[in-house]
Amino acid sequence: MELNSDVIYLLRKEFLRLHGQNNKMVIVRSPGRINLIGEHTDYNEGFVLPSAIDRAIYLAVAPGHDFEVTITSLDFNDNFSFDSRKLAKSEKIWANYLIGVVGELRKAGYPVNGFNCVYAGDVPIGAGMSSSAAVESGLALALNTIFGLGISRVELARIAQRSENEFVGVKCGIMDQFANLLSKGESALYLDCRSLGYEYIPFLRKDLKFVLCDTGVKHSLASSEYNLRRQQCEAGVRIMNEYIPGTRSLRDITSQMLQEHEKELGDTVYKRCMYVVEENARVGAARKSLQRNDYASVGELLYISHQGLRDKYEVSCKELDVLVDGASKIEGVLGARMMGGGFGGCTLNLVERDAVGDFKRRIQETYLEKTGKVPQLYECVLMPGTDVVTD
Ligand code: GLA
Repeated sequence: MELNSDVIYLLRKEFLRLHGQNNKMVIVRSPGRINLIGEHTDYNEGFVLPSAIDRAIYLAVAPGHDFEVTITSLDFNDNFSFDSRKLAKSEKIWANYLIGVVGELRKAGYPVNGFNCVYAGDVPIGAGMSSSAAVESGLALALNTIFGLGISRVELARIAQRSENEFVGVKCGIMDQFANLLSKGESALYLDCRSLGYEYIPFLRKDLKFVLCDTGVKHSLASSEYNLRRQQCEAGVRIMNEYIPGTRSLRDITSQMLQEHEKELGDTVYKRCMYVVEENARVGAARKSLQRNDYASVGELLYISHQGLRDKYEVSCKELDVLVDGASKIEGVLGARMMGGGFGGCTLNLVERDAVGDFKRRIQETYLEKTGKVPQLYECVLMPGTDVVTD
């Protein structure tokens, strides 16, 4: 696997300078992720198709003294210390992602004592590649390793998700943490977010590339609107349960059932629920298309997913729409859609390898013309999930 040796070198050097030599130190590589399709379905017990990628955060972690925890972020050029038995939210937003993991591990009864952590990486923040899950899951795996906690990867994903729910306050689903810890590389991870059963679907077409276009926009609405969407889906489930007893989540509902109760659901909740039900069906269709090597159909599904996110779930924004619309007019693009929570971040584009150069040039021109800004572009490769780096 390709590792970022510059970052690893820097981490070793800084760890040594700050905390001295420690034979128990581990370095963990914890990647960002993309999601092929299945957006806002995870917290509805639905299906997703994500994968870890070749951008990652690296954490150097070793046991320390008593209960004292010291965390240094080289990217933020900042540090933070606390007692692992006395946990409180910090004003430093970046620190809460890490404090939360310690909190959830201890809540679950695992003995997390003092430790030192220095981290840095190249997962862009706020771009929708889930740098937050990379930090959470990476620390969870590192602590599992240095304290020999013996927690399975699936359970680590649950713990990392809970720490974001409880400590950061975003009621996210499990997709990001799961993709981070269980991806295999060169394949998408088909995950059933109810049973947490999963399978790997190889991504066979080496002549196709994933290109991410970053809007550079991060709306402050993102987390409040995210939580609101979740509440609207839950409201839909409650209403449907009155008519179809036993309905636990939108996973148990068909579009026909929703149509029959459109009035009772009301306009907004109806739209939200319809999007989720249809997106779940699209994940199933994408899985089948991948299995029969039909990437043109996968591309079509990406465009339809974007329309649903824009019109029914209403989590897109002008900049994302400009990028998807622009991509659809460029030859060699099989499909495009916004990716992640929405209200900014990246679009995901499935592009023929030979067309990538032209795609990059033209999408930058379009974005500049329509928004006055130049988008960051990232080509990415599907990689295995978080692991300890061995020399
Ligand atoms: C964010 C959350 C995920 C998921 C996506 C939308 O990335 O962290 O759990 O809900 O949004 O699909």
